[in-house]
This record gives sequence, structure tokens and C-alpha cells, in this order.
Amino acid sequence: MFGSKDHLSSLDGHLYIEEVDCCRLAAEEGTPLYVTSERRLRENIRCYHRAFPDADKYFAVKANGNLTILQIAAQEGMGADVFSAGELSLVRMAGIPRDMILFNGNSKSELDHAAALRAGVRISMDSNEELEHLARTACELGLEGEILFRVNPDVSPKTHPKIATGLRSSKFGISAEEVAGAYQRAMDLEGIKPVGLHCHIGSQILQTAPFAEAAERMMDILREVTAKGGEVERIDLGGGLGIQYHPDVPAPSPSDLAQAILPVIEDGCRDLGISPRLILEPGRSIVADSTIMLTRVNVVKRAAVNFAAVDAGFNVLARPMLYDSYHHILPVDHAEGREEMIYTIVGPICESGDILARDRPLPRLVRGDVLAFLDAGAYGFSMASQYNGQPRPAEILVSGDGWEVIRRREDASALLAGQTIPPRLMW
Ligand code: LLP
Repeated sequence: MFGSKDHLSSLDGHLYIEEVDCCRLAAEEGTPLYVTSERRLRENIRCYHRAFPDADKYFAVKANGNLTILQIAAQEGMGADVFSAGELSLVRMAGIPRDMILFNGNSKSELDHAAALRAGVRISMDSNEELEHLARTACELGLEGEILFRVNPDVSPKTHPKIATGLRSSKFGISAEEVAGAYQRAMDLEGIKPVGLHCHIGSQILQTAPFAEAAERMMDILREVTAKGGEVERIDLGGGLGIQYHPDVPAPSPSDLAQAILPVIEDGCRDLGISPRLILEPGRSIVADSTIMLTRVNVVKRAAVNFAAVDAGFNVLARPMLYDSYHHILPVDHAEGREEMIYTIVGPICESGDILARDRPLPRLVRGDVLAFLDAGAYGFSMASQYNGQPRPAEILVSGDGWEVIRRREDASALLAGQTIPPRLMW
């Protein structure tokens, strides 16, 4: 196994996650199936704590909103980055303390602001206009909201364009030139209290240099804000650390990230004589490699290429379709003596673009074989849909030699949820 995937192993030709045989999992729980290693998840969080002992780590809930996963994150001392009122209620249910939650978002409604204010969590301001909106709602409710400013630092993260968020052309944040002015304006507004600065430059970033550059920019802004009398208690550098999806493309570790950014922040803050609390918002690097997605082969077809059609498509794992992303695939039962062939793995969705993987060498596949897609824990289930009338899969937590269902497989009733037929149209 490449990288440090020590929660996955092979025994007698079967793939194991921790001490559980994936063949048994697929047989007993059905497919498609998301399966998370609790040990790996906890270890990933602890790795961040070791690399950043003095920083708060807010789990980016968009990566994985499963309540049990959030509960484990809470137990391990993580806070949460939430991007909607829905995510906020999930993390409150999971027991994440309000003081460790940041409500992010570039398009928040009055209801979102009210939910954040009532919950007493900090709120990230994405525009000058949002300041005025939030202040008004806070005054109407007789509450005060602590805010951080989402800065657009104009840094290139060198990642897929759809997941680069800190470029000047991106929809997120307030330009670096405007932030100090906005901070001052916020100090004068009733109902809000500016307490910090925030940025997030993108996702699946495989070098540490862009993070260091963003930290430098944030230090410039910190100097400006402080010179104008602003008090900055928190600096949030967002998430974005990439992971090793491909055996040949390594990723930096949390401790590499720490080495790149901590000196920049320490130097900048020492010069100013202040020590704001550092916040990070990792999502992918916490949960991606803890989870595999099991899917069963329905059809093998020789056409222009060898197609293996499985029971999961972009309805289950959207990343390959959206970002051309690579997920390594392992056969769950590596039967002896099968010759190697090259396959394109496709899903059951009625679109030609429903391709999960291209040109993969795999042992000759037959109907009924199960494949494991690795590194599926981040933006996997959380981006799943019911497109083409496909109920969403189950989620399993593996711990040692046992497992528990942490989200039931949907059945056809889920497709009906919330729907009504107006009586006048009834037969
Ligand atoms: N903080 C903010 C404000 C974010 O927008 C994000 C991700 C994160 C933290 C967490 O970033 P991470 O550590 O997971 O890279 N669906 C895409 C990724 C979208 C990321 C959106 N924002 C994918 O599957 O690659």
C-alpha cells in the first residue's frame, strides 16, 4: 500500500480495512458502501495536533457531514468550519462547542445570520455589504456577533481551477486592499465585533509554498489592521492541504505545513507584540484516506475499450466526473491466476461522462467482483446525490475487527421524501 495507508492490508488475497475483510462487508452490507476506519481517522486528527499543538483545528464539515465522524472529530478536540445553517446544526448535535465553530459562506441569508447569532458562533464576513446586513440582524435580535474577515489574498494554490479559492478572480472574500478599511468600519458598527482574519486559498494543494505565501499576505494585512487600531485575536488560514491520491504523487504532511507557515506567523506576530490564536480548517487531510468506497461489478463489456460497469457512478462519487480526479482502485478479492487487463470503470448513470476511472490495470474482472476506491472519505458521500432515482449508499465505521452502520442505506422511500402530489392531480 502506498503512502501511510496502514489501516488497509491484504490477507489471503482479500483486502482488509483494519481487521475487517472487505469481501464480508460487501456481502453483508451491500454495495455501494462507504467504509471508514476509526483508527485512521483519529490518527489523522492526532497528527494535526502534534504538528500544531497551539492551534485550533476546525474540521471542514463539507468534506464529510456524517454525525458519527463529526462526533469523533469533537472527541478528538476539533472545532468546525460550517458553511450553512444545516452544517451548523450537525456540529452542534455532534457536541462541538460554540466557541470552536466558524460560520463561513459567501452568500448567507438573513436566516443564516440569525441562526449563527442565536447559536453564538463566530461568523466570517465575505464582503463589505455583508457587514451591514449582519449588523442590522444582530441589532434586531439584540445580539452581538463576533466576526472574522475572509480575505482574498490573491495567491495561486496550483490546484484544479474549480477548487482554487484565493485568486483575485474567485468569488470568495474581500480584497487585501480593502480589509483594513472594512475592519475599521466594523469596529464602529453596533451588533458586531471584529476579532480576526480568515483566508482559504483552495483545496488539494500539494506544495507548501502557496500556504507560506498566504501567511505572508495575512501578516501584511495584520500589520495594516493593527496600525489602524484593530485588535486581532484570531488568524484562520483555512484548509487545503492535499493528500496522496496517486501512488506516484506524494503530498506534504501536516508537519511540513507547520514548518512552512508557523515561522512566518511567529515572526509577523512577534514584530507586532501580539499573539493571536491560529486556526486551521482541514477537511480532506483529516478524512479522505480514512475511507474506502466499495462497489460491485455488474457488467464487463468489450467495446472501444474494456468497460467494467459498477453499481456506483457519479451519484455516489462525483469527484472523478467533476475534477477528473484520480482515486486508486484495489480489487477486494485478488483471485489467484487472473491475468491483468486494462479497464475503464463506469457507473450506472445515464450519461457518457459517468466514468470513475480510465485505463486502469486490474486483474480480469467478472460480474460480482467488488472494487475498493481508496481515499473516498472527503467530498465522497457529502457530494452524493439521488440522480437517476438512485438511493444513496450506506456508511460503515470499522473499528478493529468489528463494524457499525453509521448511516443506513437509503431505499426507494428516500426518493419520495418531501414530495407531495397536489390532490387536484390525483387519479
Ligand atoms: N475552509 C473553507 C473555507 C473551505 O471552503 C474549504 C473547502 C475547507 C476549509 C476545507 O478544505 P480541504 O482541507 O478539504 O481542502 N469538492 C472538492 C473540494 C471543495 C473544497 C471546498 N472548500 C473536491 O472534491 O475536491
